Amino acid sequence: MKKDEARLFDRTKRHALELEEANTLLRESNESLEERVAERTAELQQALRDLAALQQQVTEHERIEKTKDELIALVSHELRTPMTSIHGSLDLVHSGLAGEVSRDAARLVEIAWRNSQHLVRLVSGILDAQKIAAGRMTFNTRDVDLLPLLQQAVESNRAYADGFGITFVLDGAAPEVRVTADPDRVLQVMTNLLGNAAKFSTAGSDVLVTMERQSPFVRVRVTDHGPGIPPPFRARIFQKFAQATPAGLPSRGGSGLGLSIAKAIVEGLGGRIGFSTASAGTTFHFDLPEARRASSHREVFEEAECRPSL
Ligand SMILES: Nc1ncnc2c1ncn2[C@@H]1O[C@H](COP(=O)(O)OP(=O)(O)O)[C@@H](O)[C@H]1O
Ligand SMILES: [Mg+2]
Repeated sequence: MKKDEARLFDRTKRHALELEEANTLLRESNESLEERVAERTAELQQALRDLAALQQQVTEHERIEKTKDELIALVSHELRTPMTSIHGSLDLVHSGLAGEVSRDAARLVEIAWRNSQHLVRLVSGILDAQKIAAGRMTFNTRDVDLLPLLQQAVESNRAYADGFGITFVLDGAAPEVRVTADPDRVLQVMTNLLGNAAKFSTAGSDVLVTMERQSPFVRVRVTDHGPGIPPPFRARIFQKFAQATPAGLPSRGGSGLGLSIAKAIVEGLGGRIGFSTASAGTTFHFDLPEARRASSHREVFEEAECRPSL
């Protein structure tokens, strides 16, 4: 009996020890759990503080960006009118319409004319980019004949191309094609594409302008024989301020805004812009919605007239 009691006592003691051990373990793990929770809470609070500071920085950055944009827009706006006037006057002298000037003066006027043209383009580009960013670019869309519009674009950029020894060739095979677009904006797109084709071409080469019906669009193509667009640059070409100097050509200045504006305009008109390029030349194209011709309107109208009334 004594033996049994002693065994029972032993077992109970062992159990009590085990229980105490388990209790200690539990307490320890509880304490470490509390410690970890406290640590994580502190980390979380720090992260929240960092986030708040970051948010403040972003707001501050946005405010500075906005002020900078407004300042640039204001300066550009103030510059545009006098710059356009200076360029217009130089244009008259340069073209000879203002009378004869000496050869030396003509050379100086040529330099001033080119630089003023560059400034006018730059200032207009900045203002357009600003309008696009603010969603304020407006379109005065109507049905227009495409060929005369392309002729006008070629004419008004011819002097610029002459400066690079480039000749524009316009394919006039489809005189009847009409598009639904804002003619001034189309001229703007063409001015940039023709300007790029001229300045990024090899002197003495042609730049070809064609149009093709691809119902329901009309595709305009501007093809040059320049060295092409460098491969690493192609993916960024339509981004604002993106610029690169094609292989073998000197740097041409510019703002890197032209193609981003052209893309926004073409897309605003319901079309698309793209390019294909190789070392033998580049073609930029854009699509514009083809206008329904007057005759097809009449057909639809007549059809409606013939329908029996209900
Ligand atoms: N026809 C072209 N051939 C080769 N590179 C071109 C051509 N058109 C555009 N690019 C490249 O795309 C860049 C961006 O063009 P753009 O946005 O019009 O700006 P910018 O004419 O002011 O440089 C140019 O700097 C040039 O590297
Ligand atoms: Mg350009």
